[in-house]
Amino acid sequence: MTDKIRKAIARDRKVIMPSTRGGTRFVASRGEGDIVYDISGNRFIDFSTFIGVYNLGVNSTKQAREAAKRQIDTLMHAAFTDYYAELPVEFAENLLSLFPRGFGKIFFSNSGTESIEAAIKYSKILTKRQYLLAFYNSFHGRTYGSLSLTSSKLTQREHLGPFNSVVHVPYAYCYRCPFGKEYPSCGMACVDFIKKYPLSKEVSGKEVAAIFVEPVQGEGGYVVPPKEFIKGLREIADDNGMLLVSDEVQAGAMRTGKFLAMDNFGVQADIYSMAKSLGGGLPIGATIVRNSLGVPPEGAHSNTYGGNLVAVAAANELVKYVKKNMKSLEDQTRVKGRHIMERLNQMKERYEIIGDVRGLGMMIGIEFVRDKKSKIPAPKERDKVVEEAFDGGLLMLPCGNSTIRVIPPITIAQKNLDEGLDILEDAIRKVNAASNAKSA
Ligand SMILES: Cc1ncc(COP(=O)(O)O)c(C=O)c1O
Repeated sequence: MTDKIRKAIARDRKVIMPSTRGGTRFVASRGEGDIVYDISGNRFIDFSTFIGVYNLGVNSTKQAREAAKRQIDTLMHAAFTDYYAELPVEFAENLLSLFPRGFGKIFFSNSGTESIEAAIKYSKILTKRQYLLAFYNSFHGRTYGSLSLTSSKLTQREHLGPFNSVVHVPYAYCYRCPFGKEYPSCGMACVDFIKKYPLSKEVSGKEVAAIFVEPVQGEGGYVVPPKEFIKGLREIADDNGMLLVSDEVQAGAMRTGKFLAMDNFGVQADIYSMAKSLGGGLPIGATIVRNSLGVPPEGAHSNTYGGNLVAVAAANELVKYVKKNMKSLEDQTRVKGRHIMERLNQMKERYEIIGDVRGLGMMIGIEFVRDKKSKIPAPKERDKVVEEAFDGGLLMLPCGNSTIRVIPPITIAQKNLDEGLDILEDAIRKVNAASNAKSA
């Protein structure tokens, strides 16, 4: 670590609330595309997309940047929740053109958690029901409504209850099946459980407003469920008049190969929440509601910055880029996703500390274990891999108990992707060797 970086971190620690970060040593300076630099000029390949924000590369597209710059000199804020403006409407129309027919009405906000808060309120108001259903390991945000749904780590909830009325049930985490079964012979025991227990013994299905689900769990460990799981949730929702809310904050905006991650499962949700990559670097959230659900009364939910013109200018260009380049982005996600999975599966064969490799499109996770047989989670080894990769010039982020996310920009150049995977393999090799030596 250079002196400059040490000093910058010490200065930060004096004034910035430490409730956010873990042990990262990256002090950002500048970047573009696949590459970022720290304040000492060190170069890093980005496999983190800065928490799933830069799906189209660091600093978004040139068009998005230029539109945002132009908008700053025109009008930054139009109080869109009180007055009218044309740009957010154009953006809404463009965004809706990427949705299934029958959507909808959009509420703009500034973050993922706000997009979920809006989804909670709309689902309660529109169904006139009070309860919500969500999953263990889920992450939907950290404000009170969304935190009531979030059930990923205890530190996120400790001392903060009581929460909204949420019933939590197991997600289809097949590598560590909560029912000790194996897919597909399990017969989707996790879906049956919802019907047999919570909905038979705890809360009537008629009182549940909505099921909130991440089509692929993000922060909770990059868990990809079988198609039947999401289909099963849709059936439960339909049988009981509940809504299905898809949290696309991390998995959406092309990360899984489709604009909406839900589309991979052949299922439509009733409400979608989006943020992160939708703004490509500027804060935006969007909650998109199916038309047939009706609308909440005027004044039932609003905010100040929703539809901010600078964020919307950038997001509008990003969505236009996605529409124009849909085929290429789908292909890139499929081809690069497959390539990453192949490389990681080879690594899994070679290194005992890799327990599972899983992914959908370019939303890929590596779960680390003490050894393949015991499957005991190895958070220390995982952290060491992130550190070693960082020292080699690769930026990555952990998630779940002992998983690392592999989420480079979808547009990453093959050369940078391969260089990144080589750095990652070096890091894993070193940590695996140290772990073998310890257990010998
Ligand atoms: C799936 C999901 N939902 C909601 C959120 C909350 O988003 P934000 O941090 O923008 O409030 C996140 C953040 O990581 C997320 O991954």
